[in-house]
Amino acid sequence: MSVTSQAELEGIQKISEIVGTVLKLMRQHAQPGMTTKELDDFGGAILNDLGAKSAPRLTYGFPGWTCISINDEIAHGIPSSSTVLKEGDLVNIDVSAELNGFWADNGGSFVLGNDFHRHTSLVETSKRILQRAISQIKGGVRMADIGRLIETDAKRANFKVIRNLVGHGVGRSLHEEPTEIPCFYDRSNTARFRKNTVVAIETFISTRATYAREKGDGWTYITGDRSFVAQHEHTILITDSQPVILTASNELWT
Ligand code: CO
Ligand code: CO
Repeated sequence: MSVTSQAELEGIQKISEIVGTVLKLMRQHAQPGMTTKELDDFGGAILNDLGAKSAPRLTYGFPGWTCISINDEIAHGIPSSSTVLKEGDLVNIDVSAELNGFWADNGGSFVLGNDFHRHTSLVETSKRILQRAISQIKGGVRMADIGRLIETDAKRANFKVIRNLVGHGVGRSLHEEPTEIPCFYDRSNTARFRKNTVVAIETFISTRATYAREKGDGWTYITGDRSFVAQHEHTILITDSQPVILTASNELWT
């Protein structure tokens, strides 16, 4: 969306703060022994208390309030009463929701408890790259240049990027123009970021896989080769200088 009034600014700020807070609380609530359904119901109850509606459920009929993806799952994991969280799991929670016609989206990967499987470097690299990419975005910047920055930084840290999952415009619906903000360099992509627009920027940093495959349940994306992916995502408002991180309430940097 393009923000053209104070009322629109307040609308997008409010839902962004809500999804950021729910992501943070879910991350704090996650415990070994808990099922992903229990964790999702916890987040869903907070969304409901705050008057917000789950965006994937509302838009796509997703069978959960939030997406919870574990280990080789990359995104759109379905919360399940048979998936039990274990210490050392790589967990991704993605929370997007709607309130009063405004939509925001954020997500983040983390290691649950002790890092038995050494995912910390992947997670920290993804966080750092998202932070750096966001710091370079302003009105007029080419999307291809941000994709190049993400891909180059990942390569420098000996990681890869997923090429078929992307950031996107957000604000008046979950996915809107610009529909594709890739994590890789595509020289044919001439699109530029525009001042006063709201976008969701996402990193998909991978230990090996470069394409996400659908698992066969109609929703979940997996690496399919036992490699791992960390994703971090913020909804931001683009300006003439530093963007405003609207979902900063998730405190991904702390
Ligand atoms: Co998104
Ligand atoms: Co998301």
